[in-house]
Amino acid sequence: KGDPRLQAISDSIRVVPDFPKKGIMFQDITTLLLDHKAFKHTVDIFVDRYRDMGISVVAGVEARGFMFGPPIALAIGAKFIPLRKPGKLPGQVISESYELEYGTDCLEMHVGAVQPGERALVIDDLVATGGTLSAAIRLLERVGAEVVECACVIGLREVKGQRRLNGKPLYILVEPR
Ligand code: PRP
Repeated sequence: KGDPRLQAISDSIRVVPDFPKKGIMFQDITTLLLDHKAFKHTVDIFVDRYRDMGISVVAGVEARGFMFGPPIALAIGAKFIPLRKPGKLPGQVISESYELEYGTDCLEMHVGAVQPGERALVIDDLVATGGTLSAAIRLLERVGAEVVECACVIGLREVKGQRRLNGKPLYILVEPR
């Protein structure tokens, strides 16, 4: 992959050691958002990939999927839906829980936001274990949507390209530094 935009994107992400706790190399995408070129390259690469795939739904995962999902949705002519942490959505929801290092967490989606047969793209900033994206896929599939792909800005090498989540392809731009 000789796309020079990927290097610019990678360079724009700040790595913060020991945040939020010791041993974690936090991948801080707020510095990517500060860099107009890097932010635009990120959105452009996703938009070029997804514009002609018949996608009608972009689902963003709280919190940082909310920063990348909406510009992609607008550009490809899709709606945006937030997949939120528990207790945030006011309407009727369905929930899917997933494993954390310690305990579990949960994502919720509004019932009625997506119709059966709709083609969906799931967006987040980063995939680590894949637990979060797997919950997102299950939510969309429970309402009869077809998850075309999951896309993240950052993912581990062993995940990149090949790993599939619940049988769905995963598309990643850069690796953590
Ligand atoms: C981070 C990241 C992904 C998730 C990836 O979010 O933004 O959503 O972890 O991890 P996984 O692949 O192991 O599931 P975090 O849980 O920190 O939540 P936040 O964005 O609300 O802070």
